[in-house]
Parts: sequence; structure tokens; C-alpha cells
Amino acid sequence: VHRQIAPRRNVRILLVGERDVGKTSLILSLVSEEYAEDVPSKAEEITIPADVTPEQVPTHIVDYSAAEQTDDQLSEEIQKAHVICVVYSVEDEDTLDRAATYWLPLIRKCSTNNRCPVVLVGNKIDLVDYSTIEAVYPIMKEFSEIESCIECSAKTLQNISEMFYYAQKAVLHPTTPLYNYDTQE
Ligand code: GTP
Repeated sequence: VHRQIAPRRNVRILLVGERDVGKTSLILSLVSEEYAEDVPSKAEEITIPADVTPEQVPTHIVDYSAAEQTDDQLSEEIQKAHVICVVYSVEDEDTLDRAATYWLPLIRKCSTNNRCPVVLVGNKIDLVDYSTIEAVYPIMKEFSEIESCIECSAKTLQNISEMFYYAQKAVLHPTTPLYNYDTQE
């Protein structure tokens, strides 16, 4: 079931994931190009003007905080998002498990009609000397809405701009056709 998608005039990126994985830090590091130790629990919604984004499209970046938002508000944000970054911490295996057992199923449940593309983001690579990509492959196999995965660090800024570029790309140039989950083979 291939559908023609009208060109998007903006991109709305939502970051979700377990507490403390670094969602707010990722957003603030992208915007300020430096790492701050003390970040608020939730970043204000940020709009990046078209001319400074790699795909030349105005991009809204939306943070999520369990401390400040209800489940209903989360569900509303998931429905409004064009792409969702599911963030985990590479030094905390549980946060990747929760991506597969909680966050990805929740995103499916909330976006019933169209498949919302996902970028799986492993943050805090400055803390470890291994890669979690091996553990990510089976999850990507199970959830075809994951367009790409990336490991990065809000602290050292490694792969931060790439992460947001992947998110833009997942919306503007999706690599997989859009299926309904129900009809997906
Ligand atoms: P909640 O608001 O609880 O959902 O957390 P969050 O996911 O927004 O995480 P936050 O950005 O508040 O970061 C949590 C902690 O991890 C803070 O102490 C950050 O300084 C730290 N942190 C975030 N990113 C990195 C990183 O890339 N490397 C390291 N070493 N620490 C990080």
C-alpha cells in the first residue's frame, strides 16, 4: 500500500525515553553547541529556521518529561509528531529494554492510522568503550518503523547534529513504504 506523501513544509521531532537518558541535554546541546551540566526537566519547544537545517525545512523539536506531563499529554504529543527519537542510555541496558517493551509499543498504539517513523538514539557514548548496536539490531527487526539508529553524546557533542539530521531525513525521505500495522506482512 504505497501512498503519495505531500512534501512537508515543516518537521516536528519528539524525543521520548526513560528518565535520565539525556533527552533534554541532547536538545540543549544541539541548540547551544555546548553541554550544560544543569538542564531543566523539560526543554521549551524549539523551532529551528529552515536555512540552518540540513534539509532546509523549519524544524520543531519537542522534549518530553514524565515529571511535567501526563500520559494523555504524552499521547497527544506522539500523535502530533512527524518523527520520534526514542532515546536510551548506552550505559544502562534497562533503558534500551524499555525502548522495546514500552516506548515503541506505545508509539504504535498512539499512532494507529499512519506509521510514525522512529530514530533509535543511544546517548552517553562518552561513558562507555563498547557499542550497543548488536543489541539494537533485533529491535530494528521487530519494529520496522525504526528508520535508523545512532549512538551519540550530548556531553561531547559527538553525532548530535547527525541525530537530528537522521530524524529530518526519516520524515522527508522515508526508506520504507508506509504500511498499516494491521495489514503489514
Ligand atoms: P528526564 O527529564 O528525567 O526525563 O531526563 P532527560 O532524559 O531529559 O535527561 P537529562 O537531559 O536531564 O540528563 C540526565 C542526566 O544525564 C544529567 O545529569 C545529564 O547531565 C546527564 N547526561 C545527559 N547526556 C549525557 C551524555 O551524553 N553524557 C554524560 N556523561 N552524561 C549525560
